Amino acid sequence: MKIRAKLSLLMGAFTLFALSRFSGSLYVFERREVRAQEIKRLSGVADALARVAEESIMSQDDLSLISYTLKLKSSEPLLEYAFVHDGEKYRAHTEKKLVLEKVSPAASAGGGDLEIISFPVSTGGKKYTVTTAFSRRLIDDDVGVRMTQSLRRMLFAGALALLAALAVSAAASRAITRPVLELSRAAAKVGGGDLNSAVAAPESGGDEIDLLRREFNGMVGRLMELDEMKKDFVSAVTHELKSPLSAIDSYLDIVLGEVSSGLKGDEARVKWAEDINYAKQNVKRLHNFIGTVLDAAKIEKGKFEIKPAPFDFSGLAGEVVKLFSGKAAELNVALGADPGFPAAVINADRERMRQVLVNLVSNALKFTPAGGRVLLKARVTDGLDLARHAAVFVPGEKYFHVSVEDSGAGIPAEALPRLFGKFEQVKTTRGAVRGDKGAGLGLYIARTIVEGHGGAIWAESAEGKGSAFNFALSADI
Ligand SMILES: Nc1ncnc2c1ncn2[C@@H]1O[C@H](COP(=O)(O)OP(=O)(O)OP(=O)(O)O)[C@@H](O)[C@H]1O
Ligand SMILES: [Mg+2]
Repeated sequence: MKIRAKLSLLMGAFTLFALSRFSGSLYVFERREVRAQEIKRLSGVADALARVAEESIMSQDDLSLISYTLKLKSSEPLLEYAFVHDGEKYRAHTEKKLVLEKVSPAASAGGGDLEIISFPVSTGGKKYTVTTAFSRRLIDDDVGVRMTQSLRRMLFAGALALLAALAVSAAASRAITRPVLELSRAAAKVGGGDLNSAVAAPESGGDEIDLLRREFNGMVGRLMELDEMKKDFVSAVTHELKSPLSAIDSYLDIVLGEVSSGLKGDEARVKWAEDINYAKQNVKRLHNFIGTVLDAAKIEKGKFEIKPAPFDFSGLAGEVVKLFSGKAAELNVALGADPGFPAAVINADRERMRQVLVNLVSNALKFTPAGGRVLLKARVTDGLDLARHAAVFVPGEKYFHVSVEDSGAGIPAEALPRLFGKFEQVKTTRGAVRGDKGAGLGLYIARTIVEGHGGAIWAESAEGKGSAFNFALSADI
């Protein structure tokens, strides 16, 4: 069922319910009022009779009282009977034959079908009683007739209110469904692969639908970014696979050419060893890249394992510096470990920690121009010093804080929070890359490893001045 139909049904049902409750109470109240008015009007008949009785008694003109009383029945259709008595005899009565007859007490009793209005009148030193009796059935009939008219008016007003409620609900539902339909059309376009489907929305404020529009646009924006990232990733993967493969192919061609050219002896051995070594370096590069992609896949599947054991971190740092020393020299970047690097034993997965350091140092070298420097530092520190970087650090606890500082391109502040996500590469620094482009997975894997050890990783950077990538783990073994 459509929202418009649902809302109309709901509003209609609610209006009907409210109207019936309200009209019910109104009807009971009005009926009571109308009956009270009718009784008041009939009291007027009794009053008039009392006044005539007073006058005729004063003027000792019983005849005018008798004739007034006799005519009363024809002037008031609800009247059953009326009389005036002096305690002994009827001085006047609507039944002619009862005039001057003895008073019957039952006639003043009323009850049952009769509404009796009776009161004493004293005049000229004598006391009289004026009594009028009206038919309750006729009073009720009279009230009923007037209530039917009132009921008709109520029904008419109710129908108008119902129509107004339906019109309001139709307008309200149109106000809701129009933007919802617009959003669903835009969502269908996105579903069909057209990401250029943002809808018009105010920058801030507005109602819930405006909020939904902004969220939708945010989602479309993010999807566009992801699409862009996917394209970058595909091109990075293609590049990372293609360039070492072409290099291997070329070196093998060179060796083949040398074999067929008849190159022999020591000269051949030296040349072939050199070419095969170049080919092997490229196989290693391929191997590393595939390892990175497989690690990311393992993280996705929740099968990325961490096996901690105590080891000396400074030894690992030395190994990594040594591993990259050739590359750093080639790039003319001064790479080294801080002389004050503490010899601390920590409980962590050595191989995984090596992965983290290798990525951080390789990143630093990638983004540091010739003549720059990359420095590995570490210190044991209190959680209080680190608490502003991540909530996992507890003041009073000891942590092993490692940082890799470079004097490279730096990272714009707005890109910092996203760096540790999958496939994230900063566009503005892409031109500054020295060497392999990479796939944007290194920091994602590093974050998973550090967080898997209960620590945290973060970056600090000033554009154009350099960056510091930090991580800290518990120093307790
Ligand atoms: N030291 C740094 N200086 C400047 N930018 C950096 C630095 N380290 C990382 N970045 C930015 O962060 C991005 C993500 O780094 P990450 O290590 O995750 O991926 P990558 O190095 O591009 O590829 P991969 O590590 O998968 O080979 C980099 O592409 C770069 O834009
Ligand atoms: Mg990297």
